[in-house]
Amino acid sequence: MKILVTGGTGYIGSHTVVELLNKGHHVVIIDNLSNSQAFVVERIEEITGRKPEFHRFDLTDKAVTDAFFAAHHDLDGVIHFAAFKAVGESMTDPLMYYRNNLDSLINILQGMKDNGIKNLVFSSSCTVYGQPDKLPVKETSPVKEAWSPYGNTKQMSEQMIKFAVQAYGLKCIALRYFNPIGAHDSALIGELPLGEPNNLVPYITQTGIGIRKSLQVFGSDYNTPDGTAIRDYIHVVDLAKAHVVAVDRMISEVGKGDFEIFNLGTGNGYSVLEVIKSFEKVSGLKLNYRIVARRPGDIEKVWADTSYANKELKWKAEKSLDEMMRTAWNWEKALSEKK
Ligand code: UD1
Repeated sequence: MKILVTGGTGYIGSHTVVELLNKGHHVVIIDNLSNSQAFVVERIEEITGRKPEFHRFDLTDKAVTDAFFAAHHDLDGVIHFAAFKAVGESMTDPLMYYRNNLDSLINILQGMKDNGIKNLVFSSSCTVYGQPDKLPVKETSPVKEAWSPYGNTKQMSEQMIKFAVQAYGLKCIALRYFNPIGAHDSALIGELPLGEPNNLVPYITQTGIGIRKSLQVFGSDYNTPDGTAIRDYIHVVDLAKAHVVAVDRMISEVGKGDFEIFNLGTGNGYSVLEVIKSFEKVSGLKLNYRIVARRPGDIEKVWADTSYANKELKWKAEKSLDEMMRTAWNWEKALSEKK
């Protein structure tokens, strides 16, 4: 099958391209390299022995996107990752987030509609649930008022897709990710944060390697066993594999409707201190960290009910927290050797 992966040089995108190529699919990447690097394409080839087709342009450019789809009307499916994802940045420049994340989606849906390309996998987030009333979170849990423009673009995108699917006869699977971490076993691809990381795991590994002096643990007064916040961390390779399953599900028409939603997590919640302990165990280092005030906008705890995804997709996250931290650490070490 011929699959377009937008944002295919990014963190989750690159791991997904590897899994698609490993399954024998032909992959076309579009990325503007706004938060990723061109060498990732070579790394993907090094891992898989196969080279994805790569196009560098901005999907908010309608004319260029239209021309691309017209020239690629033989695509069997689209996996759409390309988007801005920094919560804090979206608070300070919301219009940049709405323009980028929504314009690009509109252009993609238009291109699909105009060229008879039916199948879309959309990269969504557990952020659409806010702080859920009940844990674990099911796909049927209510979508709460967004806490950030970033989260709001994910909610609006899901809505837009739902109506586009109805009107134009498209199909979509929206995957709501919990917290993706870790890196490919080869240590050839992984997360490449621009500047100071916002997310926990790259901050931990950068502190471990000495790029950062100390990690701040945001809050120890949450209503959790050790007082620090709890998330459902999932290995990025497990997550990538779920995308291949989702594409196959649509193409082989075994889904339960034209717009489906799945939670992608492990179903286990770990606290910030548990993540730090796992890092210390796999790296043999003592991490320099201190406890500070809560980060504004953070929720206390969230983890997924994965039973629906496990049953319907016949997919299950397999990798342990230690494995997530071990691969994240190997990737950080490989990056520092490259410099
Ligand atoms: C964040 C976003 C979420 C987005 C996800 C992936 C918010 C509120 N949510 O999730 O919408 O989909 O990233 O990009 O920003 N922590 C520390 N010290 C740090 C960094 C994080 O203690 O230096 C803690 C946080 O307080 C949190 C946990 O680690 O409890 C995970 O944080 P992070 O990796 O930023 O992910 P989320 O906040 O869950």
